[in-house]
Amino acid sequence: MGKHTICLIEGDGIGHEVIQAAKTVLEGIQVTGELEFEWLYAEAGWELFERTGNSIPDVTLEIAKSAKATLFGAATSPSKKVAGFRGAIRHMRRALDLYANVRPAKHHAIPNSRVGVDLVVVRENTEGLYVEQERSYLDGELAVAEAVITKRASQRIGAYAAKLASSRERKTLHVAHKANVLPVTQGLFLNTAKEAALNFDVTVKDIIIDNCAMQLVARPEQFDVIVTTNLFGDIISDLTAGLVGGLGIAASGNIGDQYAIFESVHGSAPDIAGQGIANPTATVLAAAMMLRHIGETVAANRLEKAVEIALEHGPRTRDLGGTLTTSQFAQVLLEAYRTA
Ligand code: NAI
Ligand code: MG
Repeated sequence: MGKHTICLIEGDGIGHEVIQAAKTVLEGIQVTGELEFEWLYAEAGWELFERTGNSIPDVTLEIAKSAKATLFGAATSPSKKVAGFRGAIRHMRRALDLYANVRPAKHHAIPNSRVGVDLVVVRENTEGLYVEQERSYLDGELAVAEAVITKRASQRIGAYAAKLASSRERKTLHVAHKANVLPVTQGLFLNTAKEAALNFDVTVKDIIIDNCAMQLVARPEQFDVIVTTNLFGDIISDLTAGLVGGLGIAASGNIGDQYAIFESVHGSAPDIAGQGIANPTATVLAAAMMLRHIGETVAANRLEKAVEIALEHGPRTRDLGGTLTTSQFAQVLLEAYRTA
C-alpha cells in the first residue's frame, strides 16, 4: 500500500467544486485499501489576491514542493493589467520548473467526441510569450511583448515529447511551429526540438501551426504526439479538448524533473461557478495522471477505466447533455471505480 502526501489547491470559481469532487473520488479509492492519501491544503489565485494582495504566496510553493504531487483546480486571471497580480498557475509552472505541459485528448463515448482521436499535446511550459514581459510606450499607443525561446528549453521539451511518442504505438511526433514567419525564435525551437527527437525511436515530422490547427479539425486521427511552444500549445489543447467532448473532460500534467502539478485544461468558468454543475471529470482524469506519475499505475488505470464506464453508460453532467451535479457525478465515478 502506498501512502502519498498530496497538495490540493482549489484556486477560484469551479476550482473549488472540481477539487472537492476529485478529493471525494480519491478518498473513495483510499477506502478500498489500495492507497492512502495525506492532504496538504494550499491557496492561490484571484480570490486570494483580492483578500490578501498576493495571488501566489511563497508558502503555497513550499507546500507544493513538500508534497509528492499537487492537484490544482483553476485560477482566474483578469483580462487587464492589475498592479501586483501574478497568474498563479503560470507562476508555479515557472517557479517549480514544470517544463512539460502534457495534455492528452482521446475519444470517449460521449456526444461530440470524434472517433479515432488519441493524441497528446506537449506544450513547452516555461517560456515563449508566457514570460509575461510586456511594455507599453507612447502613452499606450504602442505595446510590445517579448517571446523568449532558449535552446535548453526547446531541447528538453523536444526530448520529453519524443520519449513520450516512443512509448506509444504509432511513435510519431509532430513539431508544430511558426518558423516560416519567426525564423529566429520559432526556428530555434523547431531545429532544436527536432534534433533532440533524433535520439529516440520516433518518426519526426514538422508542421506549421496554422495548418496544424486546420488538420486537427479536418483529420485529427493522423496525430499522435504534438510538441509546440507555450501559446500555441495553450490554444491547440483547448481545440483538441473540443474534439473529444469539451473542457469538462480534458486533463493535463505540468511536469518537471523535481515536481509536478496536475490540473484540468479548463479555467475557473465564472459563467457556471457556484452552481455545483461543473463536470469534475477533467480533474479526476488529472488525478489519474497524477496517480500514474507517482507510481500508482494500477489505481491510475482503474480510475481511467471507471471514467470510461461512467461516461459511456451515463447519466452525465450538463456539459455532456445530462443533469447530474458535480458531486453526483463524483459518486457515479466512485461506483464505476468499484466495478472497473
Ligand atoms: P474556462 O475554461 O474557464 O471556460 C470556458 C467554457 O467552458 C465556459 O463556458 C465554461 O462554463 C466551460 N467549462 C469549463 N470547464 C468546465 C467544466 N468542468 N464543466 C462544464 N463546463 C466547463 O475558460 P474562460 O472562460 O476562457 O476563462 C475563465 C477564467 O479562467 C479566466 O480568468 C482565465 O484566465 C482562467 N483560466 C485559468 C486556467 C488555469 O487555471 N489553468 C486555464 C484557462 C483559463
Ligand atoms: Mg488554456
